[in-house]
Amino acid sequence: MNTDSNPVQFTAPTLPAWHDGGDLTALVTPLQDVAGSLLLSAALPAGVSRARLAGRYFLARCVEPSPWARAHDWTLYRRRPLFVAGWRPATAEAAQVERWLLTSAARGDAGVHWLAARPEGAAVNLIGPLGNGFVLPPRARHLAIVSEPARVAALLPLLHEMLDRGGRTVILLQGSGAIPPALRDLLPFAAEVQQVAADDGWQERLQDALGWADVAATALPASALPEVLQAVRTVRLRVERDFVQALVDVQLVCGYGACHACLTPLGNGRWTRACVHGPVFDLADLGR
Ligand code: FES
Repeated sequence: MNTDSNPVQFTAPTLPAWHDGGDLTALVTPLQDVAGSLLLSAALPAGVSRARLAGRYFLARCVEPSPWARAHDWTLYRRRPLFVAGWRPATAEAAQVERWLLTSAARGDAGVHWLAARPEGAAVNLIGPLGNGFVLPPRARHLAIVSEPARVAALLPLLHEMLDRGGRTVILLQGSGAIPPALRDLLPFAAEVQQVAADDGWQERLQDALGWADVAATALPASALPEVLQAVRTVRLRVERDFVQALVDVQLVCGYGACHACLTPLGNGRWTRACVHGPVFDLADLGR
């Protein structure tokens, strides 16, 4: 079969698989939209790293994983980041397959739109997980999650980790109106969830949450970070290390530090590449 000249004859793999280059084939099923974010259920081959999952990401190739498409289809040549929202171990029935939940807040993006249109169990080429994720300090018991509805799913692994150790969590979402039911269903019942509009007491609620917490995690648009810095300074006088970690809002393109699309300014005046040194940073490194 000459796959270079006949894309129709390619047969997609029926099981997730690793490839020689370290990339992998996942079988994905788009789930419902949750508050403007895409959720994908993904079957991955066993053996994917599971360290510090919250804030880590895969890069998805958004073309059919056929030899012909890989060689000729440059419609969506840039891979798109998908953040880890959950993981379940392989079962006795499917010992080589792990179930992952992946998410993207970039619902209007053409690549994410392509992923959302995949049929159930479609093969998608991934690399990852990449980057550094959130870390819970060993003694922390009060976790404040500060985010917005479309981004909060990327923090779910951290939230579950805190609940698993017997701690408490508060989720503060920036948004107006009622919390969408699909998002309510996604968030653990044990977590206290508040949604506050930016112009309706957001800064006060943010300070309340940070005053209660012994560790905090944010996933917000880049424009919202100065408000978090201001709230931390108000509550704690200075931005202490190991108190707030932030998932920065940057383009993740190559994932290996080669393209500089993800350059992120640091508080000391330098720049760093978020794809390899983040995308999760200690807030003390981002602002003074
Ligand atoms: S995404 Fe290319 S250098 Fe970071």
